[in-house]
Amino acid sequence: MAKDTPQTFYLKDYTPFGFDVESVHLTFRLTPETTRVLSKIRFAPKPDAADKTFFLHGEDLQLISAKIDGETVTPELIEGGLKCDVPSAPFTWEAEVEINPAGNTALEGLYMSNRMYCTQCEAEGFRKITYYPDRPDVMSTFTVRIEGDEPVMLSNGNPAGAGEGWAEWHDPWPKPAYLFALVAGDLVNHPGSFTTKSGKEVELNIWVRPGDEGKCAFGMEALKKSMKWDEDVYGLEYDLELFNIVAVDDFNMGAMENKGLNIFNSSCVLASPETSTDANFERIEAIIAHEYFHNWTGNRITCRDWFQLCLKEGLTVFRDAQFTADMRSEPVKRIDDVITLRARQFPEDNGPLAHPPRPEQFQEINNFYTATVYEKGAEVIGMLKRLVGDENYYKALKLYFERHDGQACTIEDWLKVFEDATGRDLQQFKLWYSQAGTPRVKVSEDYAGGTYTLTFEQSTPPTPGQPDKAPRVIPMAVGLLSPNGDEVRATEVLELTEAKQSFTFEGLASKPVPSILREFSAPVILERETTNAERAFLLAHDTDPFNRWEAGNALAKETRVAMVLDGAAPDAAYLDALEKLVRDDDQDPAFRALVLSPPSQSDIAQTLHERGYTPDPQKIYDAAETFTQTLAQQLETSLPRLYAATTVEGLYSPDAESAGKRALNGRILSLLTRLDGGDQAARQYAAADNMTQQYAALAALLKAEKGEVQSRAFFDQWQDDRLVMDKWFALQIACAAPEKTAATAKALTQHALFDMKNPNRFRAVFGALAGNHAGFHHASGEGYQLLADNLIALDKLNPQTTARMCAAFQTWKRYDAGRQSLIRAQLSRIAGTEGLSRDTNEMVTRILDA
Ligand code: PHE
Ligand code: ZN
Repeated sequence: MAKDTPQTFYLKDYTPFGFDVESVHLTFRLTPETTRVLSKIRFAPKPDAADKTFFLHGEDLQLISAKIDGETVTPELIEGGLKCDVPSAPFTWEAEVEINPAGNTALEGLYMSNRMYCTQCEAEGFRKITYYPDRPDVMSTFTVRIEGDEPVMLSNGNPAGAGEGWAEWHDPWPKPAYLFALVAGDLVNHPGSFTTKSGKEVELNIWVRPGDEGKCAFGMEALKKSMKWDEDVYGLEYDLELFNIVAVDDFNMGAMENKGLNIFNSSCVLASPETSTDANFERIEAIIAHEYFHNWTGNRITCRDWFQLCLKEGLTVFRDAQFTADMRSEPVKRIDDVITLRARQFPEDNGPLAHPPRPEQFQEINNFYTATVYEKGAEVIGMLKRLVGDENYYKALKLYFERHDGQACTIEDWLKVFEDATGRDLQQFKLWYSQAGTPRVKVSEDYAGGTYTLTFEQSTPPTPGQPDKAPRVIPMAVGLLSPNGDEVRATEVLELTEAKQSFTFEGLASKPVPSILREFSAPVILERETTNAERAFLLAHDTDPFNRWEAGNALAKETRVAMVLDGAAPDAAYLDALEKLVRDDDQDPAFRALVLSPPSQSDIAQTLHERGYTPDPQKIYDAAETFTQTLAQQLETSLPRLYAATTVEGLYSPDAESAGKRALNGRILSLLTRLDGGDQAARQYAAADNMTQQYAALAALLKAEKGEVQSRAFFDQWQDDRLVMDKWFALQIACAAPEKTAATAKALTQHALFDMKNPNRFRAVFGALAGNHAGFHHASGEGYQLLADNLIALDKLNPQTTARMCAAFQTWKRYDAGRQSLIRAQLSRIAGTEGLSRDTNEMVTRILDA
């Protein structure tokens, strides 16, 4: 295949593999540069197969020998794999290949991280380990023998024997190759155990490099909580004698749910009060839960093909969100998730990379591990649950596990289970899986003679390849408040199914104030003419905490927009409302911290764009600065008292309540720093005995350009801790003023500890650059150029991480002609790079085609 015509894969072309795989035996002879992999696989031709071709995937493999039923064969080596003539009866395939883990910087297949061997096979990495039908609908049991001189050698399933220089593993559960894992190295374990509800004892381990043992206790507790929660809420029990988690430093993603042997980016499992922030603790708990929950939603029931990725990911994200809501605060979790959805999924869904939760085509599947597949995939399940009700939801899930255990399934299977369990027709609902784009819902109201009418009009803008959209089923949770603040109608879920639809409420003594899209019941953009007075009323009175926050968020946005467009002063009523809330000790501190957190600058840019304006990043930045300064002044007299009242004393604990207090305390410190020149922040920095407070103080100081001393002290203290150093790299860039952002990032790429090959470090620098809205989009274009230079360099080493980071450019069409041409030039430069990876090529082409 020529470079300029990359192959595209289509959902409609699905055909089953022509053979069953009855068993897989693998032997690994580990050496860093010349590992040998011997495979012995039992194949059985399917009598009724439409396609009888014996094709095995394989990439970057050196074939040493191949045999069928003991006889040497000479397969035809072709692009992406091999073909071979095979018997028409069951046969044994044997192959020996050589691979180079030490030279594998793509971090896919078998690679080395810090002298440790580890694997990453999802989605299509197993083909870099040996020749195999590397597709999720081919499932088999695996027996693995590892030969090498590493002290610890692990694979999936249960241990099946070990001796000097070897270890064997057997996984009794048939699985697709993407769930295969192997780890070998000098590792130590933090042990634990769990007794399942039917009384089976499970051995648990978190494996880390020597020195990290002290950072495993929190993860272990999170794992046990997850195991218990899945039994209590979904009735799902663990199914092996052993559950291992391994922390690795070089990893493209967050973590991976390999059967019985989860592999984690060390940033997503290692935690200690001194080195991790509250946000880190919460994220670690959620990711451990996520990977554990995959054991049923992903592993026991897997995906037929990669187009169905959201079948496992949307459901597992939904489940981990339920878990976090149960462990912590339900409204706070919901607000956090909507903030992330709007920050990550909405730009994707409303730009050149828009795709449905179940895409119908791809060139490189790694490019579809997106916010749409994960987060919107979870939102779709949340809507389904709201439409059928809790009882029906769990009834359908029970049927799903009964009917499909051990299978590789589709979205059709998933929806059929709901139809069968509830008798509901989900034909129209299914559009959520096939249509891209965020629906806009315009709301208008009418009140006459005691009857209140809400009219909804839905439409979805065109997205790449999908010019026209049909109306979807939208669950719209609505409550009504009377003007004195009482709730006159409790939450009701209105089901929108048509392009335009009205709902009436009778017997209302006065015109109510509606609270619409409570709990963010659907991932849509609501458009409604309303006033700041009404928003302030909802911020004070709504019984739905999400919508209370939403009202405050809308006020914040309107104020910013007016400041940017008309040079207005910050809205006085809004400042008053914030002041009242921040002093209201009856309100949850975590909630107060959220209301006090400003909408992001890229969110304001997005809002301006939606309203037909061209956002000016510098003006948005200036408005944010002015607003925060004004708020600080307004609160001036109460800030020291508030700071003292929210300071959490005593032994650090990462629980939700203390974390919420610290979050509020951090917001207050950042305001205080605007007035006191950093005195309090410097005191907090000096006294801090945990990372949350140390980090908050450093951030406040860096933002005020008063943090040089502390930044150097931070470096001296933490230079040997990779994860903390990631924070140090990122924070300097995140806090830099717009005109200094690119230069700060560039200087940090020259730092001795900058390491292109470590995805965490690369993301620390360039994620922070792209996340500093006014800095990245500074009119000089230096930010664009620096990112492009480094993406081009990284692509040669690690295409997957490069391609993901290209998304920083996805919003380019929002901006003015000058910035657009600067970005276009950089995107074209990347696209024109000799030898560009398929991953990055697909991303830049899609972004440029906007
Ligand atoms: N399946 C992993 C998860 O969702 C994510 C992942 C995808 C990790 C691809 C590595 C590679 O937890
Ligand atoms: Zn997942």
